[in-house]
Amino acid sequence: MSVERTLSIIKPDAVAKNVIGDIYSRFEKNGLRIVAAKMQHLSQEQAEGFYAEHKERGFFPDLVAFMTSGPVIVQVLEGENAVKKHRDLMGATNPKEADKGTIRADFAESIDANAVHGSDSAQSAEREIAYFFNDSEICPRD
Ligand code: PPS
Repeated sequence: MSVERTLSIIKPDAVAKNVIGDIYSRFEKNGLRIVAAKMQHLSQEQAEGFYAEHKERGFFPDLVAFMTSGPVIVQVLEGENAVKKHRDLMGATNPKEADKGTIRADFAESIDANAVHGSDSAQSAEREIAYFFNDSEICPRD
């Protein structure tokens, strides 16, 4: 198994519900170390840039509006198989399809407001981490 990094976002709905600590606890209990973190209210430009690959999709304007509707917490998680481990903890994109006990099953209301984002591959993780953090903001702890 390899030590990887992944990008995680706690979305505005989950921040508003005051479940940041609960979500962080799930990361830490499952071997994912938080090696960078910041709270940010994304601008329209930042949200559009982050989700640029989805810009032709019908849901894109709503996704950008949602992601700019309130503050988010963005973090880099590090650990063995971090990308998959984090995706497993998150559950399916649509919370109605998410396995019991996953973050989305427990905290998300709908596919539009689904509590968390996680990189879907090591390659995406590299790009997404660089979108939010420079090297000096990341503190490896192993
Ligand atoms: S897809 O359909 O497989 O391309 O979707 P996916 O790559 O998993 O992620 C698409 C991101 O857009 C968010 N989003 C929606 N997806 C599908 N349908 C609707 N209606 C929708 N609304 C928002 C979805 O949560 C994904 O965002 P992230 O932040 O990656 O979870």
